Amino acid sequence: MAVASSQRKRTAPLANAPTTNVPPLRQRRAWALLEKHYQKLKGVHLRQLFSEDPERGERLTVEAVGLYLDYSKNRITDETLQLLLQLAEESGLRDRIDAMFRGDKINVSENRSVLHVALRAPRGAVILHDGRNVVPDVHAVLDRMADFSNRVRTGDWKGQTGKRIRNVINIGIGGSDLGPVMAYEALKHYSDRAVTFRFVSNVDGTDFAEAVRDLDPAETLFIVSSKTFTTLETMTNARTAREWLLGAMKGEHGAIARHFVAVSTNATEVAKFGIDTANMFGFWDWVGGRYSMDSAIGLSTMIAIGPDNFRAMLGGFHEMDEHFRTAPFDRNLPVLMGLIGVWYNDWFGAQTVAVLPYEQYLKRFPAYLQQLTMESNGKHVTLEGAQVDYDTGPIYWGEPGTNGQHSFYQLIHQGTRLIPCDFIAFAKPLNPLGHHDTLIANVFAQTEALAFGKTAEQVEAEGTPDWLVPHRLFEGNRPSNTIMLDALTPAALGKLVALYEHSVFTQGTIWQIDSFDQWGVELGKALAQRIIPELESATEPKLEHDSSTNTLIRRYRKLKGAV
Ligand code: F6P
Repeated sequence: MAVASSQRKRTAPLANAPTTNVPPLRQRRAWALLEKHYQKLKGVHLRQLFSEDPERGERLTVEAVGLYLDYSKNRITDETLQLLLQLAEESGLRDRIDAMFRGDKINVSENRSVLHVALRAPRGAVILHDGRNVVPDVHAVLDRMADFSNRVRTGDWKGQTGKRIRNVINIGIGGSDLGPVMAYEALKHYSDRAVTFRFVSNVDGTDFAEAVRDLDPAETLFIVSSKTFTTLETMTNARTAREWLLGAMKGEHGAIARHFVAVSTNATEVAKFGIDTANMFGFWDWVGGRYSMDSAIGLSTMIAIGPDNFRAMLGGFHEMDEHFRTAPFDRNLPVLMGLIGVWYNDWFGAQTVAVLPYEQYLKRFPAYLQQLTMESNGKHVTLEGAQVDYDTGPIYWGEPGTNGQHSFYQLIHQGTRLIPCDFIAFAKPLNPLGHHDTLIANVFAQTEALAFGKTAEQVEAEGTPDWLVPHRLFEGNRPSNTIMLDALTPAALGKLVALYEHSVFTQGTIWQIDSFDQWGVELGKALAQRIIPELESATEPKLEHDSSTNTLIRRYRKLKGAV
């Protein structure tokens, strides 16, 4: 167990906090049993586990909805699994899953339902929110998106000067950017190559400048994506985009309606910005930003790949939702992945998880997962507001293979930290140039090397001089999951994203935290709003920050020539 977590003191829940019927994590029976079990297992090598159980590599696998998970190269036994499953039961996971699908307000700190599963429910399904079936509303928006996407894709939707749209720029940040850009890159193979797609997120003006520098405003459509329509970065970029367009259109305000559409829950702010709400695609407060790529936030994705492919992606999400909702926990992909993650996080003290997709199109997948996992489970108090006395969400990071192998894998193989890895592979390449066996051989080679390593005897047997042996040996016993799918189709992407969404929820349930709020981003936002006028002020501002922040502000003002 990590030292830091054992030193952390749990505080009592506040008297008026919402209560759960689940005992604190350390008081659950399975926790104590897992503590004992960990002491037995921590020194056991994967070499031993595999040699004692030759069938392990076939047995510790699950296949469901076209996704194969090999979790045999984890430092677990049948007993570990049984105890982790017991922990899930004692943590009330079944009730929490039902509560989410039922539309209960499980996002307690914001008093909101969490119904991203409704975004991919088939037409005709019934999912209630405050007594109202939201599925028809979801499909009504999808139908409007499909109509709009088809008009852009066929050239029927024209810009102000009558030219067809050749460039689509999504302006958004966080969940209103990472999902769209990840999905666009992931599904580029299926996209309309006649249209250029770009994504502007950073408030750094360079992001916007580079995105538009070679584009004709008359052929450019902006999708301003923001759940709140108040986010500093997005609104700053949207205003710059409006000036850029109006500059080229000689100030004709009518051009905004042809070149700007909005995706938001906030019609009032959309109208205030000057976008006709007829060109607004809505979603709902029960969709969290990081769970929104399959809502209207996916409009750029739908324009890129077409409505049929978008619906196929939703179908993939839904298949995984149904699997998560109905499969027994011992055959449930998100539950197993979530529990194994908890095992490393809370007993082995693993601070990070590497996500390693061996598929170039998934190059933004680790970045996407960073928001999904870390904004969801980076929490320090329980649902009841008590300080946790164990570690919660780990740090997610990664790069597509094989590039990472020539960079950070050294540390994973021979460094001093335990880094559980998720390897993601597809059996069929989308660009069959004869490289695929080489690519996939690397997946298998890496997981094998990580698990089994190379002993001193093996290194010596190669004639290595004694002094060099320690440098060349591989301890092994480094755990990994291997996730394998047929090919990176829109449906496969939906399944993969939903797998991680539900695995994050599983972990949040064990840790008894609110995986659906993100209060941790607020303080920095508020401070920036206070500092902006201090940087812009024509006269020397009165600064009342700490001495470091005050000095930095003064130095910046001096360097930019403000004083
Ligand atoms: O920074 C936090 C956050 O609220 C994310 O959760 C969200 O995805 C992002 O900002 C963007 O918010 P919005 O879609 O409202 O602009």
